[in-house]
Amino acid sequence: MNNAINTIKASLKDSAVKAFGAALAGVEPGVDQATNSQFGDFQSNLAMTLSKQLKQQPRLIAEQIVKNLDENESFEKPSIAGPGFINFRLQKSFLEAQLNEMKSDPYAGIARPPHAKKVIVDMSSPNIAKEMHVGHLRSTIIGESIARTYKFLGHDVLKINHVGDWGTQFGMLICELKEKFPTALTQSDALDLGDLVAFYKQAKKHFDEDEDFKSRARQTVVALQAGDVDTIKAWKLLCAQSRKSFEEIYAILGVENLQERGESYYNDMLADTVAALVDKGLAVDSEGAKCVFLDGYLTEDGKPMPVIVQKKDGGYNYSATDLATVQHRVKQDHAEEIIYVVDAGQALHFEMMLKVAEKAGWIPDYLRAKHVPFGVVLGEDGKKLKTRSGETVRLKDLLEEAVVHARKDLDSRLSERNRTESDAWKDDVSRKVGIAAVKYADLSLNRMTNYVFSYDKMLSLQGNTAPYMMYAYVRVKGIGREGGIDLDTLEQSAKIILNEPAEIELAKQLLKLDETLDAVVRDFLPNRVCEYLFELSQKFNQFYEACPVLGAEEPVRSSRLLLCDLVARTIKIGLGLLGIDTVERM
Ligand code: ARG
Repeated sequence: MNNAINTIKASLKDSAVKAFGAALAGVEPGVDQATNSQFGDFQSNLAMTLSKQLKQQPRLIAEQIVKNLDENESFEKPSIAGPGFINFRLQKSFLEAQLNEMKSDPYAGIARPPHAKKVIVDMSSPNIAKEMHVGHLRSTIIGESIARTYKFLGHDVLKINHVGDWGTQFGMLICELKEKFPTALTQSDALDLGDLVAFYKQAKKHFDEDEDFKSRARQTVVALQAGDVDTIKAWKLLCAQSRKSFEEIYAILGVENLQERGESYYNDMLADTVAALVDKGLAVDSEGAKCVFLDGYLTEDGKPMPVIVQKKDGGYNYSATDLATVQHRVKQDHAEEIIYVVDAGQALHFEMMLKVAEKAGWIPDYLRAKHVPFGVVLGEDGKKLKTRSGETVRLKDLLEEAVVHARKDLDSRLSERNRTESDAWKDDVSRKVGIAAVKYADLSLNRMTNYVFSYDKMLSLQGNTAPYMMYAYVRVKGIGREGGIDLDTLEQSAKIILNEPAEIELAKQLLKLDETLDAVVRDFLPNRVCEYLFELSQKFNQFYEACPVLGAEEPVRSSRLLLCDLVARTIKIGLGLLGIDTVERM
């Protein structure tokens, strides 16, 4: 209801000027949603905020403001409450006009921004040859939802996969590759190394146990950094192999256009980055390494805590790479926002790294650079999610298991109702529902919450779950189908009119989509979308109980059908922003 709020603010300002003179031309009236709908839809505390300046009782100020408000079509004559709150109730005609606009707009009535911002979402970012774990899954799901929301709001989004594809671990991996797959570098076909994670473990074991191997691995790191052709080739092979398994996950999750720019992408900038930090007097030598010390950061034993940018052996590290990355994103990509969707365990890294970047002058005033942290996923035992044998859960298994569970649920529902469906249909629905359930369970909670991963809960048809919302969509869509209505034709000829209280409540909820999405990109909380959708489906149920649709007389019948359609479309938009596909039947 941004439109409503803006209209009220403008009217309040006009009236304040009329009542108290041009001195108030710069006033910014505060207007909020009313907490109790009995008194209206919105409330302003303007009179209280002006009291000191005008040296008058707020209540008297409020009376003057209300007296001077122009007649208008947006809200009814406001009432004054308590010490001087001004309460507004929207006119029915305003709600109707807004809804009729919303229904014929692909952006659901949300105005395009005057300036499309360049937003970078740093998301997913697993590490080559290591397990892509649940933390990366959360980053992918949350990042995708934030990116989709920005895009829907009209901004220019670039999703970047900052994969860990560089570092000393490649020394041992490449040595292992050369020894175990001697033909790897000469054969032209793509090589299948099998399970890279097992390969990593094997290389690590070799490294820990064999001194000779260890020194060969170290030399290989040097060769890699020097750009030795064969070593680079081996490194690329390993990256390609990992990429294949990451891409399987992205395909299952429906994540597209994720641009891979791993740590290696910034290699050429690292020396200059560290040199600049030294020049600016920020990085200093400390025990052979180059470090930046920030005021107020201490280690556990009370010593100044460094941001290490270059190690003793000359190698650059994670922080140096992120510092180069910031500059690249500002200069080459013209980023105005950078959002790092990374687990809460890295909060200190981002806090300190961004402070260093700021001190170095790499964060322009207009840039909003934010770490968006999230909590951990727990198993049913309340501990960090692991397989029964204590291993990290493979994401592919976890997602496939969700589909299997969804299929079981679907089969039993179908047999209860004696429904028969084709295998292709059942495969499609259970795939969509299973994956949606995992995403929704993650996104419906505040991202800082650690949550227990439970297939039963996430697949439940009751409560704030994906199947519940998808089912709500199916039901609403089903009303039009049942009546054999062609909604496109109806759309041309009919209008939404509101009479019943339940219709008006539903209308108001529909119009809250814009402020919900604003909140998502303000606080990076996709759970606001889930709350919004859940409330929408409840308001819809109340409406549907109170107001017959197909059985109503014209023009109410058409109006209600359009309202149903708008609800369905809004659910589809909302679920889409969560990365969830709707189905027409389930
Ligand atoms: N690869 C890192 C990890 O798995 C996450 C990278 C996050 N992004 C960044 N710009 N540091 O922990």
